[in-house]
Amino acid sequence: MKTVQASAPGKIILFGEHAVVYGRPALAVPVTHVQARATLETNKENGFRIIAIDLDRDYLLAEAASDDPLAVIVKNTLKYLGRTEPPDAVLHISSTIPLARGLGSGAAVSTAIVRALGEFLGQPIPPHQVSALVYEVEKLHHGTPSGIDNTVVAFAQPVYFVKGEPRPIIRRIRVARSLTLVIGDTGLVSPTRQAVGDLRRRWETDPERYEGYFDEIAVIVDQARVAIETGSLELAALGKLMNENQELLQTLGVSSPELERLIETAQRAGAVGAKLSGAGVGGNMIALTPAEAASTVAEALRVIGAAGVIITEVC
Ligand code: MEV
Repeated sequence: MKTVQASAPGKIILFGEHAVVYGRPALAVPVTHVQARATLETNKENGFRIIAIDLDRDYLLAEAASDDPLAVIVKNTLKYLGRTEPPDAVLHISSTIPLARGLGSGAAVSTAIVRALGEFLGQPIPPHQVSALVYEVEKLHHGTPSGIDNTVVAFAQPVYFVKGEPRPIIRRIRVARSLTLVIGDTGLVSPTRQAVGDLRRRWETDPERYEGYFDEIAVIVDQARVAIETGSLELAALGKLMNENQELLQTLGVSSPELERLIETAQRAGAVGAKLSGAGVGGNMIALTPAEAASTVAEALRVIGAAGVIITEVC
């Protein structure tokens, strides 16, 4: 009887979401307070069984629909490992990452599965390959993902990311002075595919204007990267960059009254900057705060009705 376990963190995008789909850089960090977990154990019976407790699902790989994301990641990983047949095993999947809220729950679940399969079969898979396998499934969920979500989750490190063919540019970010962030959940779904698709249609009507917004976001991302890596800016100045990024996201049409309510509340409670994180519309916002103000900001978000609040340290 063999058992292996693998996990993967959630993620937030600090700067540059949406523009990253159009080739601009973005910064993202893992959120380790929330995790997806995959456990694989020998099946006493024949077959490969998938039990996803949070989704209330229990089924055999052999009977899964061809577009079932969990089955797809299992099959793709087995293929990558050169296995023609799945092992007789039970895969248990669970996650504390809120679903469809811009925190990378899908990428984390896929990452945990790929890692667990590699370990179970005695063929550990390196992070860049984990990321590539997860990216293929992200395409099923999101249509035209930039690849930043699978990258930050699979590498589990702060990253500077620029999408690219044949390979993206991925640089690990070294954080000079640790940053305190409060993450607030609107309680609403963040429909990535729809948000990215709707923005694509707006871009098609006036590409020049939207390319200009993306360029402005790229400047903010590059300034933020330098500030985070060198500690050259006061916290307030980094917060200002966050606010400027949020204004551009509003202009792009991916914010919402619910996100803005949380953002304004965080700013009033002592955050130096705040913005939506991920695809927007619903999902989560992030607030940059002095360490000593984090609990006040978190409390203010709870009072106003945030569906979930996480305080995290980026270091
Ligand atoms: C989603 O976490 C981030 C987006 O930029 C989409 C993507 O990069 O694939 C909105």
